[in-house]
Amino acid sequence: MSLEYAITSRQKIDRLSEANAVVALRDTTRRAEHRLVDSTSYGTKHKERLVAVGEFATTIAHEVRNPLSTIAMVLDYLNTLGQMEQAQVRLELAASEVQRLERLLDEILAFAKPQQLRRQTLDLNDLIEETLGNLQDLTSGAQREISYAGPQRPAVVEGDRDKLKQVLINLLTNAHQATLPGEEIAVQMITTGIDGVRIEVVNPGTIADNILARITDPFFTTKPQGSGLGLAIVKCIVEAHAGELSIRSDKKRGVVASVSLSTTISA
Ligand SMILES: Nc1ncnc2c1ncn2[C@@H]1O[C@H](COP(=O)(O)OP(=O)(O)O)[C@@H](O)[C@H]1O
Ligand SMILES: [Mg+2]
Repeated sequence: MSLEYAITSRQKIDRLSEANAVVALRDTTRRAEHRLVDSTSYGTKHKERLVAVGEFATTIAHEVRNPLSTIAMVLDYLNTLGQMEQAQVRLELAASEVQRLERLLDEILAFAKPQQLRRQTLDLNDLIEETLGNLQDLTSGAQREISYAGPQRPAVVEGDRDKLKQVLINLLTNAHQATLPGEEIAVQMITTGIDGVRIEVVNPGTIADNILARITDPFFTTKPQGSGLGLAIVKCIVEAHAGELSIRSDKKRGVVASVSLSTTISA
């Protein structure tokens, strides 16, 4: 997964008539999100609306997937014909927008699909080191230091490797996007009690209370190119593992995203 999303002009892709439906998906989901944000009544009504938005978005995501693949194939074909430079630039722009929409659809479907875990016994320390290793090129290029402090004892869980890796990637992506070059992101794993572990991803900065209240809601984003699904997906995965996600804004430490999980007690 890339840490940065390409920023391109939406007007240009609008010219591809088939893509209008896709663009409409963004607008519709944004409008739905704004309705949610305007709503002051939290609680059951709020949750019902979130479920309805999730179902609505999933239906559209399924409908949009096939025409989008057709558009991608047509663009690939046009690319093979050899174009004038100006046409080539526009083709590349269209192809990158298609990719961005495909990522958005993947996120919507990942969020909406029931979380069926393929559990295996895994050491969280290995998983964190592997994930940080995968992301290192991207983060060092972008001049973010990531420090990692491992646990006091092995932290072994019965978990879904790919999904837990997704949790780490989403949290690290947010931390990366919230920091400036030269700032440090700290990852920590702390064992708690006899059978618990807490993974923390900490970045400098603060989050206002009104944002914190909605931070895990699907489609809630403060980023122009954000999907607002990163933390909603993290929450689904963590809860499917019977764990807990908490995000807080600490004056001293910064933004602390923590995931608590139960570990298997080693002999
Ligand atoms: N580590 C963080 N530091 C500051 N703000 C954050 C952090 N993580 C999440 N947020 C806020 O929560 C919002 C929702 O995050 P997320 O669900 O990952 O969606 P997205 O990243 O697409 O906006 C972000 O738009 C941002 O405002
Ligand atoms: Mg995110």
